[in-house]
Amino acid sequence: MFMGIVLTGDRPTGKLHLGHYAGSLLSRIELQNEHDQYVMIADLQAMTDSNSDLIKNNILEVMKDYISVGLDPNKTTFLLQSAIPELTELTFHYMNLVTLGRLERNPTVKNEIRQKSYENSLPAGFLCYPVSQAADITAFQADLVPVGNDQIPMIEQTNEIVRKFSSSHGSGAIKEVKAILSKTQRLIGIDGQAKASKSLGNAIILSDSSEEIKRKVFDMYTDPNHIHVKDPGEVEGNVVFEYLDAFYGDKEHLEELKIHYKKGGLGDFALKKLLNQVLQDLIAPIREKRESLNDLDMKDILWKGTQKARVVASNTLSKVRKAIGIDFFNL
Ligand code: TRP
Repeated sequence: MFMGIVLTGDRPTGKLHLGHYAGSLLSRIELQNEHDQYVMIADLQAMTDSNSDLIKNNILEVMKDYISVGLDPNKTTFLLQSAIPELTELTFHYMNLVTLGRLERNPTVKNEIRQKSYENSLPAGFLCYPVSQAADITAFQADLVPVGNDQIPMIEQTNEIVRKFSSSHGSGAIKEVKAILSKTQRLIGIDGQAKASKSLGNAIILSDSSEEIKRKVFDMYTDPNHIHVKDPGEVEGNVVFEYLDAFYGDKEHLEELKIHYKKGGLGDFALKKLLNQVLQDLIAPIREKRESLNDLDMKDILWKGTQKARVVASNTLSKVRKAIGIDFFNL
């Protein structure tokens, strides 16, 4: 079996939610058993559009989310981006390998510029964050990056940088990487909006209380034309079904429910009751584990992982410097 190096990351701008769980945490829990996995808390990347207090307050929260869902510090190396200055230097070198025009055409960046209304005042750091992401990925000699499809352009741009580097400075220092797409691509928000996100307030957070989960489930957007129980209903775009698809294990029963709903005679209340139970059962052990974790231990895990990861990044940076020809003092 192929044993590779896996790298992923999250911006620590809030606690993680069910969208993260379905989209990336689940696959990381599997990947850690077969691969050498690094999980990065991308606090520097988050600085391109958030403030440092918010970020600082969320680093250990995200660590708690990781550990409480079952990521294991003996199998996964956790690291804090800002504590590895080698990543920043790599970013600087790679900036010479991309054009402004290419960055402006990156679909992920384009999208986020629109979302954040940056059209007329775009911070250069924000525009360059794909370069920093290329640095993160190549620094650890990653083979695989599990991502949602919105991050595919990042991987493409990383590989372009690697190819440009190799043709300008020779190959061997850094390598190309492959994206692995997760099964659940992006979980929609409880309001039916395209994406569950903490900032939109439409996500179920992994540390939500039992009451909060229940409230959110019963608030979910279903089919606005499904007024009476006997009416036929839409399954497509119906948040309750989207979540059952992602989290309900009994697929056969789920298919029966869909047929019943489409025919008419199945009420939203009964469905929401089922989904509430499914999510309560999923989140209760995560919440329990989370409550047993303390800040000091989280900090210690992150510190140890960061030290280990820094050695790897530093090694890559030395190779990159040598390849580029920055070796005046032979450091
Ligand atoms: N851009 C990713 C996100 O917003 C976070 C991230 C930073 C990342 N560096 C990375 C993901 C490297 C994968 C690989 O979620």
